[in-house]
Amino acid sequence: MPASSWRLRSDAWEYLRFAVKRLATDSETADALATDGEVHRNLRALETIELYWAGFGQRYVAAIAELLEAGDYRTALDRIGRVVHRLRHDTVPDEPRDEYLDESERAEFAVDADPRPRFEVLVVDETTAQDRDGLRTELLRLRGPADDFVYDYVVVPSADDAVAAVLTNPNILACVVRPGFSEHTRQRLSRDLQESIRLARAEVVRGTAPARSSLASVQRVLGLADTLAAIRPELDLYLVAGAHIEDLAGALTRRFRRVFRREDQLELHLTLLRRVSHLYDTPFFSAIQDHARRPVGVFHALPVARGGSVVASKWIRDLADFYGLNLLLAETSATSGGLDSLLAPTGAIKKAQDLAARAYGAKHTFFVTNGTSTANKIVHQALMAPNDVVLVDRNCHKSHHHAVMLTGARPAYLEAYPLNDFAFYGAVPIDRIKQLLLDYRAQGRLDEVRMITLTNCTFDGIVYDPERVMAECLAIKPDLVFLWDEAWFAFAAFHPVTRRRTAMAAAKRLEQQLGTTDHAAAHRAQQERLHGADGSPAGDEVWLSERLIPAPDARIRVYATQSTHKTLTALRQGSMIHVYDQDWVRDAEEPFHEAYMTHTSTSPNYQILASLDIGRRQVELEGFELVQRQLDLATSLSQAIARHPLLRRTFRVLTAHDLVPAAHREAGRPMPLRDGLASMWEAWATDEFVVDPSRITIEISRTGVDGDTFKHEHLMDRYGIQVNKTSRNTVLFMTNIGTSRSAIAYLIEVLVKLAERFEEARAQQDPDLLSAAETDMPPLPDFSAFSARYATDGVLPDGDMRAAFFRGQHAVG
Ligand SMILES: Cc1ncc(COP(=O)(O)O)c(C=O)c1O
Repeated sequence: MPASSWRLRSDAWEYLRFAVKRLATDSETADALATDGEVHRNLRALETIELYWAGFGQRYVAAIAELLEAGDYRTALDRIGRVVHRLRHDTVPDEPRDEYLDESERAEFAVDADPRPRFEVLVVDETTAQDRDGLRTELLRLRGPADDFVYDYVVVPSADDAVAAVLTNPNILACVVRPGFSEHTRQRLSRDLQESIRLARAEVVRGTAPARSSLASVQRVLGLADTLAAIRPELDLYLVAGAHIEDLAGALTRRFRRVFRREDQLELHLTLLRRVSHLYDTPFFSAIQDHARRPVGVFHALPVARGGSVVASKWIRDLADFYGLNLLLAETSATSGGLDSLLAPTGAIKKAQDLAARAYGAKHTFFVTNGTSTANKIVHQALMAPNDVVLVDRNCHKSHHHAVMLTGARPAYLEAYPLNDFAFYGAVPIDRIKQLLLDYRAQGRLDEVRMITLTNCTFDGIVYDPERVMAECLAIKPDLVFLWDEAWFAFAAFHPVTRRRTAMAAAKRLEQQLGTTDHAAAHRAQQERLHGADGSPAGDEVWLSERLIPAPDARIRVYATQSTHKTLTALRQGSMIHVYDQDWVRDAEEPFHEAYMTHTSTSPNYQILASLDIGRRQVELEGFELVQRQLDLATSLSQAIARHPLLRRTFRVLTAHDLVPAAHREAGRPMPLRDGLASMWEAWATDEFVVDPSRITIEISRTGVDGDTFKHEHLMDRYGIQVNKTSRNTVLFMTNIGTSRSAIAYLIEVLVKLAERFEEARAQQDPDLLSAAETDMPPLPDFSAFSARYATDGVLPDGDMRAAFFRGQHAVG
């Protein structure tokens, strides 16, 4: 259920409306209802689901069931209609029949019509119906016209229900824990949700910051707080306690933003609103808007500023007509008057970057206005010096090769596993990385290896386990720096399952892990197995056969570069660099700033920066919902292809079984999310590589055309569908947070039409003639090593890229 609870919920209400409308408007008898098992099934499902959403709740569903039972279809339809309207984001339902409304329902209607943004606050406590009514009355009393936002409570009795609520309801932005909650749910939850709750509760890194109190009640509260924070770090946690509040405050405040007494309802109310206003705050976007509204004279560069060279022109006024005058009013080269300098930020840009660091779980975040191509060069230049060795995935983006050439570092290229059948590469297995590090150690050159850079996820959606990669590498080289190219993975930080495989979340988990006593003990025990009695390392096979455990004092030095614009809301070229580096101040800050200045324009595009700022607001407030929806839509697309007889004959959706060799996966399911969130959770927690479910690669050999022809002639020219990547026999469909249900429906419709066309063409073809796309694929080329002239020692794979590059340039001439 959690994988698509938003959809299950809206589908169930939509279905009820459809079915009950028939009953209310047509002469069908109540018998029809009795035989319509679907209505009852949906009502039962909604009775559970609605516990986790504010507004209507279980009582509302039960009341509808009673109305249906009593044959009052019209009133039931009105009530169902209200929910459907709210789910569709319509504020005012059609023709509410006033005579059926009681006082509280009238108040609810007023709330529905309120245009202010709404969010939900989870309250975890055992309560009676009377308590819940009291909470709600108090909330309505506190709600004021000057509040910027409106919120409602979702009240659940147990820790299990709290986890279920934050997994299923993305509108929840804050959580109030009261120590009276119980442990287990009394709901009849789907197996998937039960399993997801278990996995979420089992996952928290234990023993990192022991509570000073040994009270069992304090431990329970801590356990729940840690779980909720691990699932949704953007949630604010508050504790409301009665007795012993001072003791609790001392023991618990690390986890909670604040501790309140029960009487402090007003304080809590104000804090909740204030906190959301902090998430909503967009310092740079607001500064740009302010600037656009201010009358300013320009005696500086940029003739388009304030529309100067455009609106008075006879010939180019259509620029302003098309983009709107605001674009020109917002264009400025000023760095004062509320604006800020990207190169040396101290005001609005600095604040916006700090907020982004919070959102992405980084220690520092830097905005980049020339895409990740530049972000990568900045990080390489900041951390590498001539002759340092950097391990680089050979299939990385060209900017890494360029950066290596610029810095004079020596790349040792890593080989990703090939997918010969589909003509592209996968990712680099951990054993190869470890072996290469061990080879450097054996040759006495490990100290030269400074950094490793890997692409996570790959263009085709193959995702590493960065926590594992970093842990095992650090066990061999404890000060190795990691640069994760997350050009395609910015969205992943906003979903509880995908987040764990982002560099920032992995760095944090690893840091927590290294600080535990369990970890120190495991490390000591493993060292005995990895070393002989004389202290020398055991053979490589021993190091390769174990999951290596880094020393507790290994350094966590992690950088991630993201093309925010590729997967989240940002104008093109809007990228970010996220930093989680324990040696930042000592070892990186200054060279980083130098590199940042080198590669950043002195005229960075303000609109890109503003879009990064407001895109950050979006992901903090609705990122989870958007990413979950994206994953669900992609899953429904792959299911539609797999189930439709004609599509199934023509296209094949590639799964983890096709894209990841069996040796690198354990969970065993070909498309884990299709089986439910828990199944995805398990695969993402255990497998060496997983496949990002938001990308769908389909194999098209049976169409008789190659990937390029399919993309240009069939998808784009005929139907206006844009895809980016193809191989000889595959096409990659990417969904993103802007993908809608109707876009998916259109794509399916187009695929059906194309499949019909291909099938017809095939029927007329000579059956003995295989199309080019169906012939066996040649193996992918192997990388030829550095020639002796550029190789460093002829034993290890690194070489002098800079010399090779310039010689290549001049040799051509
Ligand atoms: C893995 C990878 N890194 C970096 C980049 C460059 O990103 P940008 O287009 O933001 O410069 C790309 C672009 O496709 C990429 O695929």
